[in-house]
Amino acid sequence: MKKTSLISAAVVATVSALLLSSCAPAETAAVQRACVILPDADSGTRWEAGDRPALEAGLTEAGFEADIQNAQADPAKYATIADAMLTKGCGVMVLIDHQGAAVAVAEKAKAAGVPVIAYDRPIAGADYYVSFDNSTVGALQGQMILDGLAAAGKDPKTASIIYSSGDPTDGNAKMFLDGALGVLDAAGAKAAFTMTGTWDGAKAGTLFEQAFTAVKGKVDAVLAPNDNNAASIITILDKNGLVVPISGQDASVAGLQNVLLGKQTATVYKPFKLEVAAALDVIAKILKGEKVTASKTLEDGTPYIAVDPVSVGADGVQQVIDNGDATAADICTAEVAAACETHGVK
Ligand code: BGC
Repeated sequence: MKKTSLISAAVVATVSALLLSSCAPAETAAVQRACVILPDADSGTRWEAGDRPALEAGLTEAGFEADIQNAQADPAKYATIADAMLTKGCGVMVLIDHQGAAVAVAEKAKAAGVPVIAYDRPIAGADYYVSFDNSTVGALQGQMILDGLAAAGKDPKTASIIYSSGDPTDGNAKMFLDGALGVLDAAGAKAAFTMTGTWDGAKAGTLFEQAFTAVKGKVDAVLAPNDNNAASIITILDKNGLVVPISGQDASVAGLQNVLLGKQTATVYKPFKLEVAAALDVIAKILKGEKVTASKTLEDGTPYIAVDPVSVGADGVQQVIDNGDATAADICTAEVAAACETHGVK
């Protein structure tokens, strides 16, 4: 894959031309701003370290002034940020929901004639949903568990597997889980214990401790929804001297390190630049009044533009670095250096 900008020059040119030429004077200021709300800074490193710079670069290249703010996991703050943005004027809103806070914002934006892209997480009432193929994300996670069990010589039908998932208010969490269950059920796997869903890493750790006690310490694998939750769970497995198959998502630095150390089976890599490019393509089409073609539709009818995710094990880490989404300097720190050498990570 190319390291250079993945946003096609045509899209950039089209959006820029549109912004410069076709707006009524009164609208010009509003149309030039793209208003983006990120959900939090601690359910994973992706929002601040990955999505923010990718959105900032992509939107700016496309001729927008990017106003990107973070709701810091606070629904009230989400609403306040949105009101201020809409008062200033937005040509488009790109929203990543936090616990349903984006639904009211999408309504207000649409009432003001501002198109709304639900970015990464679904939002009722959005014009379009741009994300990864989340069912495939889950299927890849389920497959990691099966592959890990096979490597450990364990039968999925009898293995003691703990199932965990993301925050149930995030529509993605169900898509991930359903995708994983499709693969696990087909192999005859069952949950020995099902944890309450959360995107809060610390909470995931506490919930896993309870699960661990409930299954009397007999754990053969853990279905974890992302690297952040997996990291907390791995800390507890570590304390108990256990290394078992565990899934993840985001190709975060911590996740890639755990994969290289053999503590996490693999991670689902979702290149930010591809997601941003898909969103920009939709924005360009909306502004031109062109038809947006979506490969999928959400249950509520929202057109769903789905980018393909990739499963990355230890031998795939270099691919993430080559794409510019991580650096060997960040990953190959003291404890991980030897594993980097073994897997040719540089
Ligand atoms: C995203 C994941 C992320 C999680 C927690 C989900 O909606 O798709 O990439 O790990 O939220 O922030």
